[in-house]
Amino acid sequence: MKNPLRDPRDRRLPKIAGPSGLVIFGITGDLARKKLLPAVYDLANRGLLPPSFALTGYGRRDWSLEEFTARVRAAVVAGARTPFDERTWDHLAGGFRFVSGDFDDDDAFDRLATTVRELDEERGTHGNHAFYLSVPPNAFPKVLGQLARSGLSSSANGSWRRVVVEKPFGHDLTSARELDDVLSDVFPPEAVFRIDHYLGKETVQNLLVLRFANQLFEPVWNSHYVDHVQITMAEDIGIGSRAGYYDGIGAARDVIQNHLLQLLALTAMEEPVCFDADALRAEKEKVLSAVRLPEDLDRHTARGQYAAGWQGGQKVKGFLEEEGMNPASTTETYAAIRVDVDNRRWAGVPFYLRAGKRLGRRVTEIAVVFTRAPHLPFETSQTSELGQNALVIRVQPDEGVTIRFGAKIPGTSMEVRDVTMDFGYGHAFTENSPEAYERLLLDVLLGEPPLFPRQREVELSWQILDPVLAHWEGRPIESYRPGSWGPPSADAMMAADGREWRRP
Ligand code: BG6
Repeated sequence: MKNPLRDPRDRRLPKIAGPSGLVIFGITGDLARKKLLPAVYDLANRGLLPPSFALTGYGRRDWSLEEFTARVRAAVVAGARTPFDERTWDHLAGGFRFVSGDFDDDDAFDRLATTVRELDEERGTHGNHAFYLSVPPNAFPKVLGQLARSGLSSSANGSWRRVVVEKPFGHDLTSARELDDVLSDVFPPEAVFRIDHYLGKETVQNLLVLRFANQLFEPVWNSHYVDHVQITMAEDIGIGSRAGYYDGIGAARDVIQNHLLQLLALTAMEEPVCFDADALRAEKEKVLSAVRLPEDLDRHTARGQYAAGWQGGQKVKGFLEEEGMNPASTTETYAAIRVDVDNRRWAGVPFYLRAGKRLGRRVTEIAVVFTRAPHLPFETSQTSELGQNALVIRVQPDEGVTIRFGAKIPGTSMEVRDVTMDFGYGHAFTENSPEAYERLLLDVLLGEPPLFPRQREVELSWQILDPVLAHWEGRPIESYRPGSWGPPSADAMMAADGREWRRP
């Protein structure tokens, strides 16, 4: 019978991780349950983990190994992308361990060190271990201090130790630097993997292929032909049970500082010499350092909070009434900003970024909107339905690329109307895209850093955002209807530039 663990027929992710273990801190949290554990299973099911792979959970609960295993199984059954396979599961679960303890519990970390050593012997992890800090940033110093104290952060005899950290990487430039100081005291830069899960998405990586593997697009990818760019990350959900995390953070810190500025960087950067981590990061950094905020931040930014109302036929709570929320919070659930990129390619082309919860629908897209044709040899009345050409990278959920252009309406006159030409992943490929976390976890185990931002990018992004956050501080905040496209100031901000947001 075919052994899925030894038969990696995956054409897109053909590399299999070497002997290694993953230790997850924050194993009982949402991220671990919904994303990390299903991703580990899916990787195993696709034959991309080595037979020696081990997974250790670290948490405060007093769980037995059986209880831990049952929890992981429930998370996998609920969240995995690939079908449940008992043989894969049994083999994977053979490498599970659970260590119960607090983050300041020396004994528990010593037990973790023993567990990891035992895995090297019993399971064959060969001293290679990644530590995933799926915990709030204020717990980083404690966990990192313990990893250093217990010797877990040091590798010997050619083995490796890596650390994976999740955003938010600080809440402003100063705290991001402090966080990095703590990290770099314990791990060398090449052992630090900062997760921005948007970079793990197929469609985001496809942006690089679209731009740099084709001849068609790059010649018009500049201020001669592009009027402006809109990057949208809209969610239809509210903050759910995440009040503790979200209050005081808000949309700009939560997703603009990382996901949206990364999308901007990939859209606007120059072609890297090759796709190794240094070359790619250097180009992103170059373009991020050319980003300039407008002087009038009142006019060119917008923010709001979702009010109570109806969405999709259901009554929904307003942000301030969500469970655990401070009813006087001024944290934004919608944020929009205009930025410019001061270089030869993009001079005069605004980039508009917006992100929000409880908007009209869930959609993430990058829309490159082109200037109008300089001359139209048709009657004005015939082209009244012709908009601007656009190329839209549909990041999710309907993954693909759309090109919008004018076409002749069938008939005797030369009437023109906008039409679209579509590429959809679902139609072009038979396989489903892997989840971002599958790709990123595998890259951590393989030690491949290109899809992980480095500290300089994090700092540049905070440098862009900090003045906006300071400007918003203490100002009143608008509300918007659930299911709408944000507060009135968002439309006003575009109208001030003579433009409109797309309604995807
Ligand atoms: C996370 C944010 O980074 O991305 C969340 O913290 C957001 O607030 C989530 O809901 C969205 O991720 P995705 O992959 O569903 O677009």
